[in-house]
Amino acid sequence: MNITIIGHGYVGLVTACVFAHFGNQVRVLGRTPEKLKKLNAGDPLIYEPGLEEMLQKNLEAKRISFGSDYEVIKDSQIVFIAVGTPPGENGAADLSQVFEVTEKIATHLGDQYTVVACKSTVPVGTNLEIKKILQKKAAQQKFDVASCPEFLREGTGINDTLFPDRVIIGSENKQAAQVLLDLHAPIGGERVVTDLASAELIKYASNSILATKISFANLISFYCEKSGADVEQVLDAVGADNRIGRKFLYPGIGYGGACFPKDVQALAAIGHQLGVNSILLEQVQVINWQAKSNFVDKIIDNFHPPKVTHSGGQGKIAIWGLAFKPNTDDIREAPSRFIIQKLLDQGYELTVYDPEAQGHIKKLFGEQLKYATDPYNAAKEAEALVILTEWDEFKQIDLLKVKKLLKEPVIFDGRNIYELEKMKELGFTYFSVGRKTVK
Ligand code: UDX
Repeated sequence: MNITIIGHGYVGLVTACVFAHFGNQVRVLGRTPEKLKKLNAGDPLIYEPGLEEMLQKNLEAKRISFGSDYEVIKDSQIVFIAVGTPPGENGAADLSQVFEVTEKIATHLGDQYTVVACKSTVPVGTNLEIKKILQKKAAQQKFDVASCPEFLREGTGINDTLFPDRVIIGSENKQAAQVLLDLHAPIGGERVVTDLASAELIKYASNSILATKISFANLISFYCEKSGADVEQVLDAVGADNRIGRKFLYPGIGYGGACFPKDVQALAAIGHQLGVNSILLEQVQVINWQAKSNFVDKIIDNFHPPKVTHSGGQGKIAIWGLAFKPNTDDIREAPSRFIIQKLLDQGYELTVYDPEAQGHIKKLFGEQLKYATDPYNAAKEAEALVILTEWDEFKQIDLLKVKKLLKEPVIFDGRNIYELEKMKELGFTYFSVGRKTVK
């Protein structure tokens, strides 16, 4: 098929590469010439495992190209909208980019039947708005709108797109649904063909229940810290019930990223508009904030600055992990941003390390932080080590070496990556989340 995808972020680019991989002709539209040039040269602009190789193979095979000319739409069977829907006023999704590109699609539809499918996460009713714009401006053309929400996770985007649990297709008629079913034929997962409003809501409901599970796990971790129970044992046992499951029940320093914070907020805003009480979603956000804030308090309350510090400030802390999760360079809504700012406000001297996200943090914090080239360098001479992202490279690191490099053998672990017994054996003072402190 000839496909146009508008937007080349995580969703647009990964989807484009996967459909091109199956032999479709994919044209990706963007608006920034420098970015389009880099994409055409095989640079995906984001760090996503396997994406660069897949992009380059598709470029070599001439199955994918990047540009800004909407003319390519005229011979596309499917046009996907995959632009951002960031939080706008009162947390509601800002749909300006969606409507802006819809206007452009309307003036470029060709003579053949086209399905305009929205992959961006949009509130209930948006696809009908898209249809209205198209009907107004392209009344003579044959088209249908459809909702085709995306569930890929950053860091595992390609695998999630090739082997999703389900493919959701919301449409008003069988023809549009069939075109999308045909396109997805080589892709795994259950097919759910439904109406537009249900498809739109499925995306928000899915992200919100996952965020709710995480906040619930964090809430239980607060109970554990106050009562002496062990959160891992509690949630292992809770999750062993098949009805509940262990996935997305890991406490820590709260969820971040481009989706959960925005989508929980947006679903609450949709609730307000519809007159549905959404207090549950508001509390999910409050707990998420508490997870970060409790962790900072734990550091501040338990950090014992030596009498004389190098900096003359509160002391020196090393930070491992800045991305909102491992295997990505994304720092959007990353808990690290909040925690770093709070620690800087307290006067600590911070040396940070992250295998991928360091450059983005440098753009925000500049010379206020020191940047290490590896985890050991970051730990050198620090009076405590703080872990904010569970990158694999930290899991089996030489902890004895780390202990020797640290000035004080103190670790605050926001992701529970080490066994308590092991940390005791190694002689660390080890603070984690919802578990006993090792001293
Ligand atoms: C999420 C959804 O999973 C995906 O389906 C949707 O399309 C986009 O949003 P993503 O944001 O890439 O994907 O990452 P995800 O793996 O879901 O993690 C989100 C955040 O939750 C991260 O900050 C992660 O650290 C946190 N998390 C996740 C927890 O704190 N505990 C958990 O048990 C799981």
